[in-house]
Amino acid sequence: MTPALDGAHLLARLDALAEIGAIEGGGCARLALSDADRAGRDLVVGWMREAGLAIEIDAIGNVVGTRAGREDLPAAMTGSHIDTVRTGGRYDGNYGVLAGLEVVRALDRAGIRTRRPVAVAFFTNEEGARFQPDMMGSLVFAGGLSLDDAFAATDRDGLSVGAELARIGYRGRAAPGARKPHAFIELHIEQGPILDEERLRIGAVESVQGISWTEYTVLGTSNHAGTTPLRLRRDAGLVAAEAAAFVRRLAREMGGDQVGTVGRLELHPNLINVVANRAVFCVDLRNTDEAKLRHAEAEVSAFIARTAAAERCDVTARTLARFEPVIFDPALVARVEATALARGHRPRRMPSGAGHDAQMMQRVCPSAMIFVPSVAGLSHNVKEHTEAADLVAGAEILLDLMLELAEI
Ligand code: GLV
Ligand code: MN
Ligand code: MN
Repeated sequence: MTPALDGAHLLARLDALAEIGAIEGGGCARLALSDADRAGRDLVVGWMREAGLAIEIDAIGNVVGTRAGREDLPAAMTGSHIDTVRTGGRYDGNYGVLAGLEVVRALDRAGIRTRRPVAVAFFTNEEGARFQPDMMGSLVFAGGLSLDDAFAATDRDGLSVGAELARIGYRGRAAPGARKPHAFIELHIEQGPILDEERLRIGAVESVQGISWTEYTVLGTSNHAGTTPLRLRRDAGLVAAEAAAFVRRLAREMGGDQVGTVGRLELHPNLINVVANRAVFCVDLRNTDEAKLRHAEAEVSAFIARTAAAERCDVTARTLARFEPVIFDPALVARVEATALARGHRPRRMPSGAGHDAQMMQRVCPSAMIFVPSVAGLSHNVKEHTEAADLVAGAEILLDLMLELAEI
């Protein structure tokens, strides 16, 4: 019997998971290792149990559910993440995990026992919105970050990954990455506008752009907004504002794939009539080309140093995350493309603008990704949306691919 994907069930589960941490506008707030994250994890682990998967939780809280194969070989693995940014949508990450579970259910209904095990994973703190770096669980899984360093990461309130993992009951016993998969496929929404604008349904993701996250702290002097002449000011807020404008200008001037964002900015004491004595802000720079990304980093850092010096402010920088561009396994990308073609789609080869767990898994085993469109390219936004037909089409390709990978 040919396995068939139950699209309606996938959509219903996406809705059910989105109820946990639901926020106004239809989105979700399930920051990594929060109570809402725990509730989401519990729900998905329950579904994994219901599907008969053997569940393993590792020390960084990654959860892997495995369906046994005919032979005890490395698994064909799929998965993604179920944590969200504070104002996230309902598909980012969740879609890939729940589609993976639908693959398992389809195999069960068809009575298929694959040669290799099929594993469905969700990784801890992919988003990096609460704890940095992002893709933390998959990075630890791939051996790119030690458990101790991951545990020591703290949020803005000083709470650590290690303590929060233990608090929510997901500091598991398994050693991260002890069982290397045979291959890894991540199904995800594009989160950008390309497929939607080109009216295509499937992306075969070839690469992920490099990511650079830096936190800058600028120190000046608080003073009276009415009495302090401009020549006497040490205005940390001014330095931050000029830096934010520079990041945008630089990206525009560099062109190509270069993007730059200042998405977090805090001023102290943050009062209308007080010159800010402290500004903390984060710069997110990304490019598919490592040399260009380095150039952008150097330009930003030099600009901030210059601007701070002109305002007689002190500045320190802290790297929160830095990942080079990643190229996915060419044979696996070709397989994604062929599978989509066989289902009657016109797959588009494309890079990923967002970071993903698959980019860390590529360090461990051949990895690739499938994208489906994001309406109007909106993501990290409660209005993030993907049409039901597109969600189902992507999951069907995942099913075909997983079946193939589990037999070779
Ligand atoms: C993480 O998901 C990012 O791309 O910001
Ligand atoms: Mn994601
Ligand atoms: Mn995301």
